[in-house]
Amino acid sequence: MTSWRVSSSAALPKWTREEFDSFNELKESNMAGRERKQTDTDKGIVIPDDWPGYPLALFTSPEHYCDDLDCVYIPHGVIMDRTERLARNIMDDLGDHDIVVLCVLKGGYQFCADLVDCIKVLCRHSNKTLPMRVDFIRLKSYLNDHSTQDLHIEGAENLSVLSGKNVLIVEAIVDTGKTMKTLLDHVQAFGPKMIKVAGLLVKRVPSGTGYLPDYVGFEIPNRFVVGYALDYNEYFRDLNHICVISERGKQKYKI
Ligand code: HPA
Ligand code: MG
Repeated sequence: MTSWRVSSSAALPKWTREEFDSFNELKESNMAGRERKQTDTDKGIVIPDDWPGYPLALFTSPEHYCDDLDCVYIPHGVIMDRTERLARNIMDDLGDHDIVVLCVLKGGYQFCADLVDCIKVLCRHSNKTLPMRVDFIRLKSYLNDHSTQDLHIEGAENLSVLSGKNVLIVEAIVDTGKTMKTLLDHVQAFGPKMIKVAGLLVKRVPSGTGYLPDYVGFEIPNRFVVGYALDYNEYFRDLNHICVISERGKQKYKI
């Protein structure tokens, strides 16, 4: 895979009001004549700042992580139920169009696989169809639980296949929105017909740009979460629930 190293200034661009407005206009025009109304479900399921999560003992999780987690923040079953609904919204908006699903690795692999599975089930049980190609891109910008200035994009050399296509970017987590802005600029340069973004989690961060994906699973507080393919230095991807890591876990897997 070719690796694109996006310089720190490009990786963390300042989003001016004008850029933000023009990006939102682009999103509106992407609706291709469909009515796009702001609704109170746009942020998905909103988890409040004081949400303590569930005690670990109420669920099962791998033995090897038993001391490394504080709580179950979003149980696997709830993630699946929410994903099913996002799949339905995607089918309602895009059904009968061909799409290219662009999965953002590594964190997005589980969400993407489950979302694609849900869409396939819906296709089997409705008179709409949604032919999908699935492609992959890898972004890397985190060390321990901190974002680094450099954003690496791997797999970007294949993106010419996106030209003239309806693209659904599938990302596990959007925090400041700056990484997504960089990725959208990058994908836009390949001339897709339309871009939509599905984000499982959107974090409420003080430095956020206000960017919201078209399809949002959950809006969560500014806490570092792991599981369901989200990692801390490559650990915890093998955990079904989305959990909060403990101090001990952070120390154990720190590099
Ligand atoms: N967890 C894992 N990866 C992430 C997070 C997080 O909370 N935020 C951005 N990348
Ligand atoms: Mg990561």
